[in-house]
Amino acid sequence: MKTEQPALAAALDPLAGRRILVGISGSIAAVKLPLLVSALAKRGAQVRCVLTPSAAQLVSPVALASLSRERCYLDADQWSHAAPRPLHVELAEWAELLLVAPLSATTLGRWVHGLGDTLLASTLLATEAPVLAAAAMNTAMWSAPGVRANWDQLQGFERVLPLGPAEGLLACDRQGSGRMPDPELLLLALESLASWGWRRDWHGRRLLVSAGPTREWLDPARCISNPSTGRMGVLLAQAARLRGAQVDLVHGPLQLDPSWLEGLNRHPIDTGAELQQLLQHLQPQMDAIAMAAAVADHRPAVTLSHKPEKAAVAAAMAAAWEPVPDLLVELVGRRPAGQRILGFAAQSGDVVPQAQAKLARKGCDLLFANPIDQADAGFGSATNQGWLLGPGAAVERLEPMGKLPLAHRLLTALGGLI
Ligand SMILES: Cc1cc2nc3c(=O)[nH]c(=O)nc-3n(C[C@H](O)[C@H](O)[C@H](O)COP(=O)(O)O)c2cc1C
Repeated sequence: MKTEQPALAAALDPLAGRRILVGISGSIAAVKLPLLVSALAKRGAQVRCVLTPSAAQLVSPVALASLSRERCYLDADQWSHAAPRPLHVELAEWAELLLVAPLSATTLGRWVHGLGDTLLASTLLATEAPVLAAAAMNTAMWSAPGVRANWDQLQGFERVLPLGPAEGLLACDRQGSGRMPDPELLLLALESLASWGWRRDWHGRRLLVSAGPTREWLDPARCISNPSTGRMGVLLAQAARLRGAQVDLVHGPLQLDPSWLEGLNRHPIDTGAELQQLLQHLQPQMDAIAMAAAVADHRPAVTLSHKPEKAAVAAAMAAAWEPVPDLLVELVGRRPAGQRILGFAAQSGDVVPQAQAKLARKGCDLLFANPIDQADAGFGSATNQGWLLGPGAAVERLEPMGKLPLAHRLLTALGGLI
């Protein structure tokens, strides 16, 4: 797992300094937790672990204690005569955030039915902090009616962000749903809980996000593109999903951890023409659109079917180029009543006047303009800053922050217009 962050991103990390209680129950996915706990500790979080007796059979409490730099709590600790207060209450009150990963069928059942017969189960009943819960189990267990009913009931719990299992090859050799969400995604969801909270204010809404660069091909081996990694758009899509939205993500070639894409309804594209086609197809059903893709603005009028030798490339390059249609303007031009659109503008130099002119030209509801000629902002960086323009003449300065908290700020602004 990646733990190193640029200095500014580390200083602004919503997880740094937070007291996080990690509850681990008896799923084989528990073996993934030591590295996640280590990553949290390296990001400056205070981490304590609680294991059920089954979890303690599957993952080493000593490893977790060592990696969290704290003692690890087991059921036996609950009955210590040296404890002045019940341990489950002590831990519940200590934690600012809880992560239950993996959440087994049994611990889920105890929680939903108000049973506190393990240290973890009673801590879950005693806590008033937000909880991220990541289920993991065999595919057949996951589809068992009792488990589904318990899971459905958990969706209605205050302060809980439930993350259903992913598809994949399971340790029981079944291919299907049941795999614990990737630890990188759990880190992202925890960061979301720390920066936004658990409220699903986008529930029932459909959001279309475009992300990443497009590529325009001169020949089968050469293209024009840009350094967009897709980070901002993908984080917007995940943030919206965690807030309950139904999200479609249309994206060019991405450079980011593939686990960040888990759970998203994805539509990969390559060229501006492919993006244009998908936007046309998906737009009518959407409540809102965030157009974060960095669309290459010119393309060769003709794409050669063969690769010219090096000496002939200059001639091919000098041949006619044509503008790629302005996809944001097209979206605005054909949007149904009530649909809200957020555009992005990557600017160098004096950002605000250029962005104001762009907003007037494009006609979208909101425009986030960010500098690309400054450190720790723009393409590929972990942090960003800029100005949010519209509606009317409103200009809001957004100070440097991580791209996930920024995604939440933008979603709050966009959601407020729907
Ligand atoms: C090797 C092994 C792997 C297991 N994996 C899972 C799992 O992924 N999910 C699950 O719900 N139960 C799994 N179980 C069963 C649970 O450990 C069992 O239901 C236990 O009662 C869970 O208790 P707990 O929630 O207190 O940890 C597994 C059991 C074993 C022996």
